[in-house]
Amino acid sequence: MTELMQKKIDELEKRNETALAGGGADKIAKHKKGGRLSARERVEILLDPGSFVEMDRFVTNRSTPEAARVPGDGVITGYGRVNGKLIYVSSQDFTVVGGSMSRTQANKVCKVMDLALKNGAPFVSINDSGGARIQEGIESLGGYADIFSRNVLSSGVIPQITAIMGPCAGGAVYSPSITDFVFMVENTSYMFVTGPDVIKAVTHEEVTKEDLGGAATHSQKSGVAHFTAHDDKHCLLLIRELLSFLPSNNLDDSVSLATKDRPDRIVESLNSLIPDSPKKPYDMLALISEVVDEGYFLEIHKNFAANIIVGFARFNGRPVGIVANQPQILAGCLNIEASRKAARFIRFCDAFNLPVVSFVDVPGFLPGKDQEWNGIITHGAKLLYAYAEATVPKVTLITRKAYGGAYIVMGSKLLRSDVNLAFPSAEIAVMGAEGAVNIIKREEISKAKDPAAERSRLTAEYETQFSNPYVSAELGYTDEVIEPALTRKRIIDSLEMLKNKRDIIPPKKHGNIPL
Ligand code: HXC
Repeated sequence: MTELMQKKIDELEKRNETALAGGGADKIAKHKKGGRLSARERVEILLDPGSFVEMDRFVTNRSTPEAARVPGDGVITGYGRVNGKLIYVSSQDFTVVGGSMSRTQANKVCKVMDLALKNGAPFVSINDSGGARIQEGIESLGGYADIFSRNVLSSGVIPQITAIMGPCAGGAVYSPSITDFVFMVENTSYMFVTGPDVIKAVTHEEVTKEDLGGAATHSQKSGVAHFTAHDDKHCLLLIRELLSFLPSNNLDDSVSLATKDRPDRIVESLNSLIPDSPKKPYDMLALISEVVDEGYFLEIHKNFAANIIVGFARFNGRPVGIVANQPQILAGCLNIEASRKAARFIRFCDAFNLPVVSFVDVPGFLPGKDQEWNGIITHGAKLLYAYAEATVPKVTLITRKAYGGAYIVMGSKLLRSDVNLAFPSAEIAVMGAEGAVNIIKREEISKAKDPAAERSRLTAEYETQFSNPYVSAELGYTDEVIEPALTRKRIIDSLEMLKNKRDIIPPKKHGNIPL
């Protein structure tokens, strides 16, 4: 090497050292006190070892006085691999001006977002920021708007994931909520449009940051967060796990993995899963884990609207989205939160060509003033819309109850589902036998010598006549009534049969889902 080249390399190393130091050792130490990782460590854990390629490391903010400029301007951006597959990433560095969003920072983020979209690879945003860089005013707001626009244009083309690993307040919350999946870290992250101080001034309510917008709040109450993690590392590993199920983009067809789990595995235990009494609950998660490849199910929105289960699993190596009623919670009925949760999930699956497998045990929509006043009509319609609009293979299995409107909504053949299966224990009817008899046999019951005995007799009669899978099977609404032990085999048969499904919806700019 010539002397001149050595000098140039030395200078490069010095510049790299300055950039890698971020906000400096003191600020990094302060940042890491609460168990948080640095912005760079986060990227390293998210990506396969040694795969990160940083871009724009030396970009500085030209509106900051030269002496105060920090290379990178508070965000690390670039690309790398997760499980061998390309992804793009940005990671805000709180040690540099509080990770606040400057025009320069936004430009860096937009550059990788544009590349992610053009190259069809997922984008992961790690957020840890005091929000808009106050010194920059509207310039910073413009930066946010540029990111929001890209989030919207990328939606449905590439998977977008956000990890909230610190503060996320004001308008900054809207980029995460446009992305497909939001992760939050317990105790160290929070999201809100207006913070506790503003709330106190305006409404006189007193609330802590954690209670207002911490991970527990958003994963249980609002549904803003799809996943919560104990700490930064757990969060990043969860993102890797989620990415393992997702195609790189809406045209990517290469997500299958080899499995040792036999496609024709008979699951005898399922023949004893459904209790004899229709009033007794059972755990739908047990059914799911018995039938999917190697019992591996990644549940999404675990703590939000737990009366419906959504998540990813594989059947014979191929990833699918699973939607299932949970009879253990609210008897598995549909309410506002469950409808919103499942509808958005189904739309994600449809956008990214992941088949939807539904397990149904639904007594109906949750009755109540609260539900009606808050718009169960509109929200329930979202779920119906999402199922009907989806063109991916749709396989539905009714294990027990499938009543009324909820039967139609939950992936029934009547809403363009492809295969409808039912257990012999299925009760497919307009409503439960008891309710039905109380309405249509009211007079007979009231005139009977022993009304209670007459009600029981008529209920049993109705059950034999209507609350079974055979009326539906006779009409062709149910394709096959199966022994529960055959569930895995038959779902895989159905998915294989539908492998080359092509379905179209009429050409349009876009539909008008009841938002
Ligand atoms: C510039 C900021 C900043 C910001 C923090 N800093 N937020 N600098 N613009 N938005 C700087 C601090 O001055 C400090 O600099 C360093 O980052 C670390 O901040 P601390 O306050 O010391 O940290 P901490 O005590 O942990 O508190 C974190 C915080 C607090 C809660 C986030 O910094 C804060 O309240 N920041 C302002 C939040 C905010 O109101 N943002 C604007 C929201 S409106 P030094 O030099 O002392 O280390 C918004 C609109 C977006 O974002 C709209 C999009 C459409």
